[in-house]
Amino acid sequence: MRSERSALVIGASGSIGTAVAQRLLADSRYDTVFCVSRAADPPAALDNAAQLRWLPCGGSPGDIALAREEMGDAVGRLARVVICSGILHQGDRGPEKSLEQLDADWMQTLFYANSITPMLWLQALAKGLGRKQECVIAALSARVGSIGDNKLGGWYGYRASKSALNMLLQTAAVELARRAPATKLIAFHPGTTDTALSRPFQGNVPAGKLFSPDFVAARLLAIMDTARPDAALSYLDWDNKTIPW
Ligand SMILES: NC(=O)c1ccc[n+]([C@@H]2O[C@H](COP(=O)([O-])OP(=O)(O)OC[C@H]3O[C@@H](n4cnc5c(N)ncnc54)[C@H](OP(=O)(O)O)[C@@H]3O)[C@@H](O)[C@H]2O)c1
Repeated sequence: MRSERSALVIGASGSIGTAVAQRLLADSRYDTVFCVSRAADPPAALDNAAQLRWLPCGGSPGDIALAREEMGDAVGRLARVVICSGILHQGDRGPEKSLEQLDADWMQTLFYANSITPMLWLQALAKGLGRKQECVIAALSARVGSIGDNKLGGWYGYRASKSALNMLLQTAAVELARRAPATKLIAFHPGTTDTALSRPFQGNVPAGKLFSPDFVAARLLAIMDTARPDAALSYLDWDNKTIPW
């Protein structure tokens, strides 16, 4: 028998997002899996699942409010939220190697997609989360967002947008500890994963260290299953190891 728990994946047509959605759809603990995407239709891998609710959604606050409305009372039954959206490169824009390459428009694009959009979703969901509702929320961050770990430099905009995401999540965790104390937040580093996002940068990845999206999805969902709902933020990698801020 299915329970009355639901799950939400944001950025569901991305490689990690689709893999997470596939695993949630195969898990009988969730009667509805909401999948938010800029794409009009689900990828073939998700197409046939009965529990799937595909919510096409742009990035504006109005678009997000509309998609949130579609979810209705199911927000009060959310047990898992996985925010898998993000960008690293687009067209001829990509990670900067020097200060000379900084570009204000590109930095704004990165911050909007990587830091602001996840928070607009948290904002949209916060009101619906009950005080006793155990809900684990993971946002795909990245190890390069760690200030303590930054010995290599470069990748200014992407790094900073993920550091900002981490700070925004920590600030939300402090607030949610009062408003929805049974939530858990995770800023998650998947490791280098074989997706369109990392493809141009896979050259130096050691053998055995380029993960499949399904491997990463399995690791993340297992970590979410064992996380204590303490309303705190953890910054974790795919191996469940804590990353320094
Ligand atoms: N792959 C890696 O090695 C790696 C390493 C560290 C961290 N990450 C993080 O993992 C997350 C998932 O990435 P991925 O590797 O699965 O890449 P991906 O296949 O490119 O998926 C990223 C998804 O993000 C959404 N997206 C793209 N551009 C966007 C924009 N401008 N505004 C809002 N959403 C946008 C899209 O989802 P929809 O089309 O469904 O809207 C896209 O499919 C990202 O946050 C990334 O930073 C990845």
